[in-house]
Amino acid sequence: MKQICVIGTGYVGLVTGVCFADLGNRVVCMDIDRQKVDLLRSGKSPIYEPGLEELMERNMRAERLSFTDDYAIAVEGADFAFITVGTPMSDDGAADLGYVEAAARGIGSALTGPIVIIDKSTVPVGTGDKVSQIIAEHSHTSAPFSIVSNPEFLREGSAVSDFFHPDRIVLGSTDREAAEKVAALHDPLGTMVIITDLRTAEMIKYASNAFLAARISFINEISQICERLGADVREVARGMGADKRIGPHFLDAGIGYGGSCFPKDVLALRHMAASAGCHPQLLQAVMDINQDARRRFVDKVRTLLSDLDGKVIGVLGLSFKPNTDDMREAPSIDIIQALQSGGATVKAYDPVAMERAEEVMPEVTFCATPYDAAKDADVMLIITEWNEFKQINLDKIQRVMRQPIIIDGRNIYDPQDMAKRGFTYWGVGRGAQPILIEQQLLPLDQVVPQC
Ligand SMILES: NC(=O)c1ccc[n+]([C@@H]2O[C@H](COP(=O)([O-])OP(=O)(O)OC[C@H]3O[C@@H](n4cnc5c(N)ncnc54)[C@H](O)[C@@H]3O)[C@@H](O)[C@H]2O)c1
Repeated sequence: MKQICVIGTGYVGLVTGVCFADLGNRVVCMDIDRQKVDLLRSGKSPIYEPGLEELMERNMRAERLSFTDDYAIAVEGADFAFITVGTPMSDDGAADLGYVEAAARGIGSALTGPIVIIDKSTVPVGTGDKVSQIIAEHSHTSAPFSIVSNPEFLREGSAVSDFFHPDRIVLGSTDREAAEKVAALHDPLGTMVIITDLRTAEMIKYASNAFLAARISFINEISQICERLGADVREVARGMGADKRIGPHFLDAGIGYGGSCFPKDVLALRHMAASAGCHPQLLQAVMDINQDARRRFVDKVRTLLSDLDGKVIGVLGLSFKPNTDDMREAPSIDIIQALQSGGATVKAYDPVAMERAEEVMPEVTFCATPYDAAKDADVMLIITEWNEFKQINLDKIQRVMRQPIIIDGRNIYDPQDMAKRGFTYWGVGRGAQPILIEQQLLPLDQVVPQC
């Protein structure tokens, strides 16, 4: 059994702490947010993450997991300290390292014995050296410490499962022995471990996220061409994905990526590249295409409703992806703001994200069911592909809407089936499907927004 402290109990830190406790370690999770610590101590998770709260309760009961807002309590006797604080984007696009530096100062001042400090936050290349320097400056002991970069790849919505079944563990350090100690901590997972140097590990995280974002932008660009030329992007992705060199993942066309990672990480990598004298053309295109995907979705609403003023728009799904309540950089925010600024009223339903959504979009009417969101709506928008929307009673939706128009930003319905049901339905990149408006077929060139 090892003693571990985790600094920062957000999506990454809480999952890391809870899961390492479940592997039999003694874990103290520390956060500067006193309210969050109080909530955690009462056995409640401040975030929605499937399976997390049950695991948390079990390990608190077994006295392997505790919470504090005090660095000294967290660091005392710890063999390992994970840094899992946020690295949001700053105004110039760079990653803001303020929280990481504060965590390093806190750990440094609280050190009493030898420790391995593991950076799990996504940080620009070179940050490990900076953290090492800050800790050395603030430490009051001569006990040795080492820094290991251990970028995190978990996905919100399946974070607990991702912790226990990762594709790989990446560890970077100038101290091979320290990296091996961290590798041993992961032994129960039986996963491939890649040990490399500190800077390379830091870059692996950015390169991975930028690559995934690029796949999404790639298929979104293809979807736009499909829409114009009468091909079906879902079939195109299926055909592409069957090629082993390509693979099927991250080829879902839609309204683009959001969340707390891809937008800020692509931007931070571009900033890093530009600061190093490189010319990151692909990264810029990835971001531009992503922004365009949201804009084109709003254009579709404008095209079908002609004037947004006074219209009622029902929205299904607000979180940036299903199975999370995370609203950071969610496409729903930009889309709803654009609709409201055109004079539309927005009614929305999301299974778990409405409380957080209300903090950023107070003007939206939040509804108890999808059918309440659809009631008297001129158009329904699918923004997040929650499973429950795939099983929705479409006849009931149709009955309560003012007019049966669905614009689907996540391609969860079949265009032919929707047409049979009498909906005017518009997905993303689903070819030259007929668009029904007031029972009339419009030629495609009259309804496709400008590229
Ligand atoms: N969320 C994800 O899906 C995900 C996945 C992989 C990597 N990451 C990276 O992991 C890092 C953390 O992300 P997150 O989503 O968990 O962030 P988060 O914002 O959910 O949580 C960060 C937590 O750190 C706390 N904190 C801030 N400063 C602190 C300090 N000095 N001492 C102690 N606690 C402090 C905050 O109160 C907050 O609870 C980021 O760098 C992110 O890019 C996130």
